[in-house]
Amino acid sequence: MTANLLKPYALNNTINLSNRILMAPLTRCMADDNLVPTQLMAEYYARRAEAGLIISEAVIIRPDGQGFPNTPGLFSPAQIEGWKIVTAAVHKNGGKIFAQLWHTGRVAHPYFYGNGDADASVLAPSAIGVEGTVPRMRELTYKIPKAVTVEEMKTLVADYGQAAENAIKAGFDGVEIHGANGYLIDQFLHHDSNRRNDEYGGSSENMVRFPLEVIDEIISKIGADRTGLRVSPGAYFNMTGDSKDRAVFDLLLPELEQRNLAFLHIGIFDDSMEFDYLGGRASSYVRENYSKTLVGVGSYSAEAASSAINDDKFDLIAIGRPFIANPDYVAKIRNNEPLTSYSDEMLTSLI
Ligand code: FNR
Repeated sequence: MTANLLKPYALNNTINLSNRILMAPLTRCMADDNLVPTQLMAEYYARRAEAGLIISEAVIIRPDGQGFPNTPGLFSPAQIEGWKIVTAAVHKNGGKIFAQLWHTGRVAHPYFYGNGDADASVLAPSAIGVEGTVPRMRELTYKIPKAVTVEEMKTLVADYGQAAENAIKAGFDGVEIHGANGYLIDQFLHHDSNRRNDEYGGSSENMVRFPLEVIDEIISKIGADRTGLRVSPGAYFNMTGDSKDRAVFDLLLPELEQRNLAFLHIGIFDDSMEFDYLGGRASSYVRENYSKTLVGVGSYSAEAASSAINDDKFDLIAIGRPFIANPDYVAKIRNNEPLTSYSDEMLTSLI
């Protein structure tokens, strides 16, 4: 029984979802070389418009946020025009779509934005690099980042706000701030990547400061009703967890609670993962410490998601890989039809 997934849900007075199934943000690396979304991308998203809400693939807020090839942006006029075609196609099919706003921080690579200068800055809270090489471009080794200055952080906050305004201009229904999965905002929230000793590091109060500045800037530009956030309290990707991280999220969640965001969304690939310092699953930890709309995600079947919502573990479910394999995921669930299984080869084209 999955009937509860198909019931409408009001995020707030501004945004009503026709069902509780979100399409999770899924990077596809298919924008053109100016990072403009293409007609094929518009058709890909439009085919999935039956989702209660589509969260777009992560969209970079400015050039030095790029860590993967051909990820779309929202900082140039051409990119805004390109996204208008995508959002119009989704709306024409009755759907809603938020843009996921992204800066990869220390996972960025100057190959993408340095105009040939391999030493162009990679910005992060502290000068601590990630091991390894860029996925899909294994010849590129990650650089040691430069600890971002307070002055540069002010510009970053303004650039997040501008990207949110650009998203609304491009016809998006709102934005999801990418605060998860080991990227810039998440790098401030974990001790592994934030070793600052100024007002942006060293204590939980200081470590939440930059993320809250970004959130507040975006809320001031487009309103809390149109602003969602994805977070990874359990470090699992491009990051090592630290038991001290718990105190950071214990402080962050009540701060978020006061801001009346459209939703909070967990960033994880498999929600059965447990974290010692969170006392179990990331979703259970957030549910206990945050009372507003929560989006669960991570290796859920429709049946498992339906039970979890029924048991009040979260309010909405985001579906990732099955949505790559099944553009008509929602119709298949409604009609009780078998799903096509996901496989990594599907990433090479936009079906
Ligand atoms: C992802 N995921 C992801 N997350 C995110 O916040 N922004 C992104 O751009 C991406 N990109 C992305 C690409 C691909 C190919 C995969 C498989 C995953 C994570 C995704 O949103 C989701 O959390 C996971 O896929 C787990 O959900 P499923 O796939 O088990 O339903």
